[in-house]
Formats: sequence, C-alpha cells, structure tokens
Amino acid sequence: MAGLEVLFACVSGAVARPQDAAVCFVHWEIIRNGYKCLGTGDEPRPGEKTSELLPPGWNASGELYTLRYRSNDGKTNLLFKAVTVDSTLIFNLMDTITEQVSDLTVNVSDYIDSEHLREFESVFRNTDDLAQKVKSNLLPSPKVESCKKTEKKSKRDTAAVTRPDIDPLRIPQRPGRQPDWSDPMAPFAAGGADLDPFGGRSGGMIVDPLRAGFPRSGFDPSAGIPGSIPPGAVPPGARFDPVGPMGRYRPGPDPDHLRPPEYDDMFM
Ligand SMILES: *[C@@H]1O[C@H](CO)[C@@H](O)[C@H](O)[C@H]1NC(C)=O
Ligand SMILES: *[C@@H]1O[C@H](CO)[C@@H](O)[C@H](O)[C@H]1NC(C)=O
Repeated sequence: MAGLEVLFACVSGAVARPQDAAVCFVHWEIIRNGYKCLGTGDEPRPGEKTSELLPPGWNASGELYTLRYRSNDGKTNLLFKAVTVDSTLIFNLMDTITEQVSDLTVNVSDYIDSEHLREFESVFRNTDDLAQKVKSNLLPSPKVESCKKTEKKSKRDTAAVTRPDIDPLRIPQRPGRQPDWSDPMAPFAAGGADLDPFGGRSGGMIVDPLRAGFPRSGFDPSAGIPGSIPPGAVPPGARFDPVGPMGRYRPGPDPDHLRPPEYDDMFM
C-alpha cells in the first residue's frame, strides 16, 4: 500500500466516519491501478486537473460519495459511487464510455477500526483482502495486459510449429473444408450449377466465358457495326448497348455456339 500513508496523512483531518476511511482506502487502490482523480460529482467541471489526492468536498456526505477518475492513458473514464447502507458500504463503478458497471459490497467494520479512525497504523484491517476485491470485482480488467498474456500463451501453444507465416490469432481452417463453389471467380467453378441447380451457383457444365471471370472477347463496338453503327461512332472501350435487330450481333454468348459438327454457315 505504498503511498496510502501519505494520502491518509493529508486527509486524516477529514476522516470523521468509518466509511470516510473506507472510501479513502478504495480511492487509493483505484489510483494504484493506473487512474487519477478528476473531482467530485457526476458531471465534469471546467478546469479540472487529474490528481492522486482526494478532491475537496469528497467527504461532504457520509451517505453518498461520488468521484470521477481517468486512466493514465486517458482512454477510460470511471464514475465512482459509494453508498452507505447501515453498516455496509456499496461501491459502484461505471465506465462512462462503455457504460459497464461493477459493484462491490463490504461490511465496513471488516476493514475499518472505528475506534482508531485517525491512526493510520490501526484504522485499516484486512487490507490485502480489500485491495484484492477492489482489483478483481470493481476495477475494469486491464485490457492491454490481458491481451499480451493471451498472445504469449498462444505463442507458446504454437511453439512446435516452426513456419514463420503461422499467425497465432488466425482462425484455423477446418481440414477437408469444401471449397467455396459459389465464388464466380473460383477457378473450378465449372460444374457447380449442375450439382445444385437451384442454389444460384455459377458454372454449369457449359463454361460461359462471360461469367467465369474471363474478359469479353470478339465484340468491339468502336469498329462499328455494318448497316447499323459507322466505325468510330463508339469510342474504344466505351460501354455499348447494341441497337438494331435482336440476335444478329448480340454481345452475349453466341446462340450458335453449340453448332453441329461441320456446321459453318450461320446464315444458312
Ligand atoms: C471534510 O474534510 C474537511 C477537511 O479536509 C473538513 O474541514 C470538513 O469538516 C469535512 N466535512 C465533513 C462533512 O466531514
Ligand atoms: C459486519 O461485521 C460485523 C463484525 O465484523 C458483524 O457484527 C456485523 O453483523 C456485520 N454486518 C453485516 C451486515 O454483515
């Protein structure tokens, strides 16, 4: 509890009730776990500075204590409340960003000797127990630290694997997983539609060059269309929807592409 004695020396004149001493102790535990106090009350006030000390007025009521804290990295703001109910003190802590709430109820006489309220040597009892409870039940779990721990652990778990491209955080692929046939760019898409004709898959037995990921070929409107569009009327590469009789110069798959053997003349 390094530092608690110094804090207590500063505030002992203000400690008039057992719960004052308990709040003083819990305040110091919050500070020790990487926070600074901003002030009293629910709402921020202009010109507040962070401090390890208890702000003026913290002891105004023995029934309700309200203090605000900010983590030393500035990422977490906490609203702390302590409510006296008979001989117990209920601590509430809310992360004002995530609105996650934690609470801890203690029997004040378990931790505070009300006979010696102003004597640092004897006022606090079972300090390790209370410090542990504050850390595990009240304070948010330290995110960065736990992340590092997990990383270390998974590194150890995969230590036997020597391949450097193994990412310990990657979701492992199930062995024998089916390839995703629904991907139109899948190189093995041909045949997928035949396996499941109603599944909206691409790639039937007949490989369609327009849908299998290959570029369109053979139709260049910039060259003009005899009897319909003069050469040069359509800029090269422009999107073009052909006009004129349907079927003659359709850009889609050639309707005659399954012609009988030896069949050569499309106008026959
Ligand atoms: C709060 O503490 C101050 C000293 O810091 C003291 O003068 C004041 O009387 C205390 N208030 C109450 C309500 O105990
Ligand atoms: C608190 O603890 C004291 C003894 O330490 C006990 O006498 C009292 O009944 C307890 N109060 C509650 C509410 O548990």
